[in-house]
Amino acid sequence: MSDTTFSGAFPAARLRRLRYHSGVRRLTRDTILSPDRFILPLFVRPGVGVRVPIGAMPGQYQLSIDELVKEVKEIEKLGIGGVMLFGIPETKDAVGSDAMCEHGIVAEAIKALKDVVGKDFLVISDVCFCEYTDHGHCGVLKKCGPGEADWDVDNDATLANLVKQTVAQAKSGVDMVAPSGMMDGMIGAIRRGLDENGFERIPIMSYAAKYASSFYGPFREAAESAPQFGDRRSYQMDPASAPGQAMREIELDVAEGADIIMVKPALPYLDIIRMAKDRFPGLPLAAYNVSGEYSMTKAAAANGWIDEQRVVLETLTSIQRAGATIILTYWAKDVANWLA
Ligand code: PBG
Repeated sequence: MSDTTFSGAFPAARLRRLRYHSGVRRLTRDTILSPDRFILPLFVRPGVGVRVPIGAMPGQYQLSIDELVKEVKEIEKLGIGGVMLFGIPETKDAVGSDAMCEHGIVAEAIKALKDVVGKDFLVISDVCFCEYTDHGHCGVLKKCGPGEADWDVDNDATLANLVKQTVAQAKSGVDMVAPSGMMDGMIGAIRRGLDENGFERIPIMSYAAKYASSFYGPFREAAESAPQFGDRRSYQMDPASAPGQAMREIELDVAEGADIIMVKPALPYLDIIRMAKDRFPGLPLAAYNVSGEYSMTKAAAANGWIDEQRVVLETLTSIQRAGATIILTYWAKDVANWLA
């Protein structure tokens, strides 16, 4: 081979020089996963000593408050940033009363946890009604047509209830609230509600760009929150909508007082995460690695088709590389153990 075979930078430039030595690979890594940026979603239900395995999400459980407390003590020891609570109430009704009650399942869980965790550990609550309503929709319903199934979530009536839910959680001692219902104006309403009740220091992590995704399937088993009719396409975003619409959602939430913004799901929406990071570099950005992403990987690993640990670390690295510095993931414990 004569030198004239080569044009341009090669052989002086050889990118493989950065790859031969593991120390050089480590030194030149840009995306470092750290458990203190992970939030573990947990499901709490009534009872004592209850630990119900979630069929579609191997390794995840519905926990009674006493079991939740034990679990969270372990999670805190692993250096995980915090937990996000979802409640399955004793009784559901048309408006989701349990969620607005200071003695509701999540309110009680928050109190129990805040009694035992250290001041560095975050107890975050999801703010939404689908787990608490008997119809499984994310707010109160109103008739929207002549047909039997012509009911839809009443946006503005739901806002008032979201405020009640958030204030109940704040009174219980929650550190941060995460509204996920995709109602227009919800961040502004919640911000005002918190401030009027003296909770101006509580941050809002908004599920700002949340898509109507089939990847939530296993979660709805876990939270017993599947809609009893219809779907969530009149409030959650259309996956095929222009990415700019996600940016509008984020912009509005920030204008209304969101402190942290979230994109959800994560893996099928890495483009949205990247766009949000570029467009809003001054905002902390979270991504929710949702139940379907978890279950698919678990199923493939159980079949021996993929190596769970390596696939999970690669997945979370991709989500962080796309721009999310905060990741909600059901793998938080496993990853903390793997990285330890
Ligand atoms: C709504 C909510 C959902 C998830 C988080 N918050 C379900 C939905 O919108 O139907 C899904 C999370 C997951 O799939 O892991 N309260």
